[in-house]
Amino acid sequence: MNDAASNSNGVPLCILDDVPDGGGLEARAEVVVLRRGDSAWAYRNVCPHFSIPLNYEPNTFWAYGGELLMCAHHSAMFRFEDGVCVDGPCLGARLTPVPIRTEGRRIFADE
Ligand code: FES
Repeated sequence: MNDAASNSNGVPLCILDDVPDGGGLEARAEVVVLRRGDSAWAYRNVCPHFSIPLNYEPNTFWAYGGELLMCAHHSAMFRFEDGVCVDGPCLGARLTPVPIRTEGRRIFADE
């Protein structure tokens, strides 16, 4: 396993266990990492409705059942798996994915 400080496999985001299971973590500015068990997804922390962060309070994300992330502003609901809005004012819009890779429990942005 590569060391996070010296790896050549992307920008270190976080450790999987730092992300609440079934919730989200603001891993870097404008990146939210979502987790369900050992699976993780990352998106730009920008709601497609008004192009503002999905959270209202720092590093506080509203998630339901480990399946849906809710924007704190007007309650748009986005699927963890693909970032598609399945309910709310921007129905059908999509969060911008941030490609990630994992090494053990470490998550890197593949950028
Ligand atoms: S800004 Fe996210 S639903 Fe309106």
